Amino acid sequence: MEATAEKLAYRRISEIIKEASGISLGESKIDLIKSRLLKRMLHHSCENIDSYLSILEGNKANQEIPHLISAITTNYTNFFREEHHFKILREQILAPIARSGNPLNIWSAGCSSGQEPISIAIECLNTLPDSATRIKITASDIDTDILNRAKLGTFHESETGNLNANLLKKHFSSTPPHYTVNHNISRMIEYRQKNLLLDFRDLPEFEVIFCRNVLIYFTPEDQVNIWQKLINKTALGGWLFVGHSERIPDTLRGKITPQGHTSYQRTQ
Ligand SMILES: C[S@@+](CC[C@H](N)C(=O)[O-])C[C@H]1O[C@@H](n2cnc3c(N)ncnc32)[C@H](O)[C@@H]1O
Repeated sequence: MEATAEKLAYRRISEIIKEASGISLGESKIDLIKSRLLKRMLHHSCENIDSYLSILEGNKANQEIPHLISAITTNYTNFFREEHHFKILREQILAPIARSGNPLNIWSAGCSSGQEPISIAIECLNTLPDSATRIKITASDIDTDILNRAKLGTFHESETGNLNANLLKKHFSSTPPHYTVNHNISRMIEYRQKNLLLDFRDLPEFEVIFCRNVLIYFTPEDQVNIWQKLINKTALGGWLFVGHSERIPDTLRGKITPQGHTSYQRTQ
């Protein structure tokens, strides 16, 4: 295939990815797209990128695009990633809830393979033994393949780095080299497929939203749009946690107040 034709095909695929997911991959990411699409091209026996593009633009596009998005998403995550958010959860959110007896709705938006919502559930259960009746964790992602992994709740021992021996013993069953999260944790989590670019008016308000390391791949305009929707979904007095390299722009600060590193509280 001629180099410019190939470039045009990748450019068109980048547009399809952005339209479907918000993930914005410029010209400099062509090699990344190439490597991540190899499996899909092999699956369809495509000899070149143009023939894969014709699938994405043909009458089977609706079937292929979710696989494309799944191949492109970066799913890196970890248990208790960015620990300072869990400290706020423990000390400033769960402790008052323990006293008041109120219920709590938590959303892990862009939950990947489930380590984030499981860490939230562990933190809740450690602080509030009756969490299962009072706390509901909604965990969502655009990528159906990664959600299926999350629903299994099974992790290779190499993925359990941030969990100490006590937590592993208390909350997981072990079939070496794997650990599976216990039912009393998984029953607190409801997994749902959700594209943050689209409307999420069907979701309730949340006292706590974790949306971390998801929007870094989006254009500034899409980020602003989604931060705004997430702020509107945060209950008054509730918290919104973002990833270590993400910031909610000053122009959106009317309803929220920064509370330390990458943590915001809805104050209006
Ligand atoms: C790097 S992981 C972050 C996981 C976790 N929040 C953390 O911080 O460890 C980013 C996740 O965002 C998801 N994602 C990307 N675009 C999305 C979209 N438009 N809507 C919902 N989730 C999306 C990806 O599928 C991926 O699982």
